[in-house]
Amino acid sequence: AKGAAMVTAVAYRLADQARQIALTLAEFRLSQAQLLEVKKRMRTEIENGLGKATHSSATVKMLPTYVRSTPDGTENGDFLALDLGGTNFRVLLVKIRSGKRRTVEMHNKIYAIPIEVMQGTGEELFDHIVHCISDFLDYMGMKSARLPLGFTFSFPCHQKSLDAGILVNWTKGFKCTDCEGEDVVELLREGIKRKEEFDLDVVAVVNDTVGTMMTCAYEEPTCEVGLIAGTGSNACYMEEMRNIETVAGNEGRMCVNMEWGAFGDNGCLDDIRTQYDRAVDENSLNEGKQRYEKMCSGMYLGEIVRNILIDLTKRGFLFRGQISETLKTRGIFETKFLSQIESDRLALLQVRAILQQLGLDSTCDDSIIVKEVCGTVSRRAAQICGAGMAAVVDKIRENRGLEHLDITVGVDGTLYKLHPHFSRIFHQTVKELAPKCDVTFLLSEDGSGKGAALITAVGCRQREQEAQ
Ligand code: GLC
Repeated sequence: AKGAAMVTAVAYRLADQARQIALTLAEFRLSQAQLLEVKKRMRTEIENGLGKATHSSATVKMLPTYVRSTPDGTENGDFLALDLGGTNFRVLLVKIRSGKRRTVEMHNKIYAIPIEVMQGTGEELFDHIVHCISDFLDYMGMKSARLPLGFTFSFPCHQKSLDAGILVNWTKGFKCTDCEGEDVVELLREGIKRKEEFDLDVVAVVNDTVGTMMTCAYEEPTCEVGLIAGTGSNACYMEEMRNIETVAGNEGRMCVNMEWGAFGDNGCLDDIRTQYDRAVDENSLNEGKQRYEKMCSGMYLGEIVRNILIDLTKRGFLFRGQISETLKTRGIFETKFLSQIESDRLALLQVRAILQQLGLDSTCDDSIIVKEVCGTVSRRAAQICGAGMAAVVDKIRENRGLEHLDITVGVDGTLYKLHPHFSRIFHQTVKELAPKCDVTFLLSEDGSGKGAALITAVGCRQREQEAQ
C-alpha cells in the first residue's frame, strides 16, 4: 500500500508539473481574436506614422525611402554594394546587364564585425568598414575604378533624398557612439577620405527590406512589399504618395520603410507581452525599444526561450532544478540552434545532443519540454509577424480600392529561411487574417546586395536625367 501511495504521489506531482508548464506556455498562445487585434493596432500605427501631425510621435515611423519605382530591366553597369546590419557584414561587386538576356553577376566577401566595433565609436566602425572595402578592392584588383556604391544600412534612417540617411537610432546588436542623428553616408565618405586610398561615389542608402523588395521586383513586377524575418524584423511597401503626408507631392508611389520593429513601444502590445518578453527587453542594449521585434525576430527568440527555461528550472521542472552557467549566458540559443531543435526529422536523442553541445545536460523529459518551449515561442513569433503583414496587404488593397488584391512579397532573413516552421505558420496567419488578399511569397536571392545595386543603378539614371 505504501508503494502504491508513493506512485500516486509521483504521478500527482508530474501531472501538476505538466499543468504548470502548460499554464506558463498558455500566455504565448494567441487566439484569432487577439491576432486580429494585433493587425488592427498595426494599422493604427501605420496611419500615425504616415500622418503629418502624428508622425513625430509615432512608434512605427513609416520612413520615406525616395525609391519611387521598382526596376524596369534597363538597369545596367558595375556597382559596389555594402551590406551592414544583418547576420554578416559584406562587400559586394554587382554587375548588372540589361538587354534581351538580363544578367546579374555578383562577387562578395564576408567580413566579421567584432563586438567591440559594434559597440565602440562611430569612427572606429566606419574606419573598419572602409578597411574592409579597401581589402575587397585589392582582392578584386579594382582600387582605381571609382564605382558608384549602394549602402545597405539596415537601421532606421530619416531620408530626404536617396543618397542621405540620418540614423534615428541603432537597433539589434549595434550601439556605436556619435552616429545617431548623423547622416551615415557622410560618415562613410569621411571614413573614405581619412583612409586616402581610393574614392567612391555613394549614390544610395538602402534599407534591407527595400533591397529585398527591389530584388524580387526585378524578377516579378507584382512584388511591391519587402519583408525581413531575420536577426531583426521589418517590412516596406509601395505606398501612395498622397498618403505619405511627410513628403511633398501626391502623384505616384514611394516605397516606405515601415520600421515595424518599434511597434508596441508606446505600450500598445503590453497586454500580450509576457514577463519573459519584459526580461528580454530589460537585458537588451535598447530597453523599451523595438518591442515587437523582440517578440518575433531571430536575435531575441532564443533569449525568450532562455528566460522561460531559467524560470522553469528555478521552479524545479527542468534540468533537475540546476541553473548552469550556460543557461545564464546571453545569446546561446541562436536561430540556427532553435531551428535544429524544432526540426521534425530530429529524434529526441538528437535534441539532447544539441543541448549537450550547448553545454546543457538534459534528461529525455527535459528535451521534450525544451522543444515545446521553442515551438511555442516561434509559433507566436510567426503569428504576430503574420498579423503585421496582414495589416500591410489589406492597406494596399484599400489604397487601390479593390475587393480583392493579388500581390507578391519579397522575403529574406535567417529566421524565415532556416526555421522549419516559421514560414508556414506565417503564411497561414496572413491568409487567415487578410482573406481578401492572395499573397505570394518570393524568396529573395541576396536582396541586400543585389537590391542595393539595382537602386544605385536607378539612382544613377535619375541623376543623369536631372543633369540633362
Ligand atoms: C531592424 C532595423 C531595420 C531592419 C530590420 C531587419 O528592425 O531597425 O531597419 O530592416 O532590423 O534587418
